Amino acid sequence: MPVRAWFPTYIYCETLQRSGLERFNRDLAEECRQLRDYDRAGRRWSAKNYPGGYTSYASLNQLHRFSSSFADLGRKLERHMRRFAGHLEMDLRGRQVELTDLWLNIMPPTVAHSLHLHPLSFISGTYYVATPEGCPGLKFEDPRLDRFMAAPPRRESAREENRSHVTYPAEAGNVILFESWLRHEVPSNRVDADRISVSFNFNWH
Ligand code: NI
Repeated sequence: MPVRAWFPTYIYCETLQRSGLERFNRDLAEECRQLRDYDRAGRRWSAKNYPGGYTSYASLNQLHRFSSSFADLGRKLERHMRRFAGHLEMDLRGRQVELTDLWLNIMPPTVAHSLHLHPLSFISGTYYVATPEGCPGLKFEDPRLDRFMAAPPRRESAREENRSHVTYPAEAGNVILFESWLRHEVPSNRVDADRISVSFNFNWH
């Protein structure tokens, strides 16, 4: 075919570490629940903005500066971020890269998180702590969707890279990274157990 692809959108998905994940996630899940019980302001904020669930996004959004286990997670995430930035061929020489935000999300049954992006950062992502079987994944939208104007619909059998959405399953122990402008959502949780994740942003200066 005389056709080449340009301007790709990259998404990174990798296991956080090769061993000890089960223990690491068990301890982290317990700490997440403790933080929810402790964080009254966050529960209040979540009741309005994340109905049915809990997020520390507006109250404890720098958990890596607050807890040694989240600091440990942050260091591991930074290694993945550098690998991803390397693949994107970003020139970070002489620049400071900072983990600016790191917060936790607990999604009980029926909770969803509608389409959004992550302002004031360049690479964002999610780490999965607890993912009961059948819980929703992370759904990304083609960033060019609003420019398609007169494009006919794609065939149902279209190749994956030609579809307008892709969903990564949520799998405990996995890190997903994307450029912060890429819109995504978490469809409603339909299983009867908590889905726990940690979201984060990196910025540079
Ligand atoms: Ni997000």
